[in-house]
This record gives sequence, structure tokens and C-alpha cells, in this order.
Amino acid sequence: MILGIESTCDETSAAVVAGGFDVRSNVVASQVQLHAKYRGVVPEIASRAHIENILPVVREALASANLHGVSEVDAVAVAYRPGLIGSLLVGVTAAKTLAWAAGKPLIGVDHVHAHLYSVTLETDLTPPMPAVGLVCSGGHTALYRVGSWIDVQLLGSTIDDAVGEAYDKVAAILGLGYPGGPILDRLAETGEKKAIKFPRPLLDRDSLDFSFSGLKTAVLYHVRGVPARGINVKNSPMSPPTGQELSDIAAGFQAACIDVIVEKIRRAARRIDARSVILGGGVSANRGLRAAMEYFELPVFFPQWRYCTDNAAMSAGLANVYFQRQQFSNLDLDAITYSQFRA
Ligand code: KG4
Ligand code: ZN
Repeated sequence: MILGIESTCDETSAAVVAGGFDVRSNVVASQVQLHAKYRGVVPEIASRAHIENILPVVREALASANLHGVSEVDAVAVAYRPGLIGSLLVGVTAAKTLAWAAGKPLIGVDHVHAHLYSVTLETDLTPPMPAVGLVCSGGHTALYRVGSWIDVQLLGSTIDDAVGEAYDKVAAILGLGYPGGPILDRLAETGEKKAIKFPRPLLDRDSLDFSFSGLKTAVLYHVRGVPARGINVKNSPMSPPTGQELSDIAAGFQAACIDVIVEKIRRAARRIDARSVILGGGVSANRGLRAAMEYFELPVFFPQWRYCTDNAAMSAGLANVYFQRQQFSNLDLDAITYSQFRA
């Protein structure tokens, strides 16, 4: 039984998971309301909110799992990379302190690997490996070769915006709310995806990298007009599209994202001779993407809806793999940010 803690971005979460897949509790304190007016995560606001939330969230996770304290779990796990430094520090410090105080082993896990692992939560299914793993969220869009849950190798990633980030920015361009993904996903259902043909940035023929910023700009130009000399389209006045036009833009944008994602998964699958496909991260909740992968040529594994976006259950679950191997972290475990991670 492992207590997991997650604070990599803007959700404070704690969970208790038994045996790697049996989720006894999974408490998520979302900060969406705090960041909504900025249409994106403000790191300083996020870390302050984590400090306020962390102990109540941990207490609630233990109580909901009918536990009386950390002394009743076997280990404390924490997502220590990658993420926003101020946010990560709160979870890592809390996990270290709880582990030390209760005399329990500490297990640091990679947040991205945990997103992949999330497909196994509350199921008895294990994807055949090697698998192509795609983590697609507000912070990541990356393809992996998943040889086992702890043998995860990067195949390609976005060279600019993450796909969830593109959803959030396009929603902002269209005058919609934050986060943009679920709103555009819903609008796309009533739109005609062929009404507007947005670009499908595939990069080189063999590339497994992604690029979404050009697609986002194409939506901007579609809505506000292509820039002419002396006109800054970002500031030009516009009345946001509404009704069918709005739905068509959402459907066209979503279709472009999905086409690119499916093509890259197919390329990666061929490259590594994959036996299955694993998707995780906030964008794996996308209904259009799920529908598009339904008839894929390999078995496809999506997380249950509630485990798509950031949560501690996936970290506590993955930590069980390390626990079985008695691979623990030291109390000098350090938070690792995105940029340190990429370097
Ligand atoms: O995994 P997550 O909670 O946090 C990060 O690690 O980034 O993902 C949040 C992202 C946001 O960009 C949000 O717009 C996107 O996931 N998202 C979606 C959907 N639900 C959430 N994108 C597309 N379709 C959705 N249904
Ligand atoms: Zn995430």
C-alpha cells in the first residue's frame, strides 16, 4: 500500500494505491479557478496554492482509504520530475518529511512515466510490450518506446508547443475558457471537420517530433486575417466566431491535431515493432482522439477518464514497481524541472 503525492504543475494530489492498481483513494485539488483568468498556469500562484493544499489533501487521501496515518502505508511515493520547480518542491518536501517521520521508504517517480502507467489503474490489463507510449498534455507531447514500466526511452517530442498547450491557446484566440481542451473537444462534436483545412505539421518524412505552434497560428490567421504590413493581427479587433462557424473551427483544429498524432504513433510503432499503444496525459481524455484510435492496427490502451489529467494514483501505482524491486530513493532526492530534464 503506497501513499503517492503529485504536485508537478497545477493540481495538488495524494492517493493511496494497493498492489499497483487498486486505487483506495485519489484526491485532487484542482487550481483551475486560480489560473483561469490568466488562461494558463502561473507558476508562483501554483506553488503557493500547493503549500496550502498539500497537507489537507494528504490527510483526506489517507482518511478516504480508511487509514489513520502514514504509519499504515508501506512507502511514500512522489513525482519528482519533470515539472515547475516551485510546485515540485512542495510535493517532494512533503513526501520526504512524511517518509522520514514515519520511517517509511521514499520512492521518487517520473511524472511522464506515471502518465503511461495510468492505463493500468483499476484494470487487470497489461499492455503487450514493447509499446509505443504517447504522453500528451498541457506540458508534454512525447513519444516513447516502453519496454517495461521502468524502461522508457524517448523517441520524439514537440519542438515548440505541447498539444494541450495548443488547445489552450486556440481556445484563448477564440475567446473561450480555460482549460481549452475539453471545451474545444465538445464543440468539435457539432462541427464539420472538413469545413476548414488547417495544416498537418508532420515535419520530415521519418520524424517522430511534433510541432503545434504553426497550427495554432493558422487558427489565429483564420480568425483575425493574415497579417499585412503594419497590422499586428494579435491586436486587431475581431468579433469572436460563434455558432456553427465556431464549431467548424474547433472540429478543423481537432482533426489536424488528431491526424498528426495518429500518424506519429503509426511511424513510431513501425520503427520499434510495437505490440501495443499506450496513451496518457490530459489530451488522452479527448473524445475525438479516442474515436480515431478505435480501429488502430494494434491494441490501444487509454487511462480511465479520471486518470488522464494529473493525479497521484498513477505515481503511487508506478511506485509499486520500484517497491517490488526494493529500489528506493534517498532523502536527498531533488526536484528536477523541465529545462534541467531536457538538458
Ligand atoms: O495532464 P494534464 O492535467 O497536465 C499537464 O501535465 O499538462 O493536462 C492538461 C491539459 C490541458 O492543456 C487541457 O486543455 C488538456 O490537457 N485537455 C484536453 C482535454 N482534456 C484536457 N485536451 C483535449 N481534449 C480534451 N478532452
Ligand atoms: Zn501531467
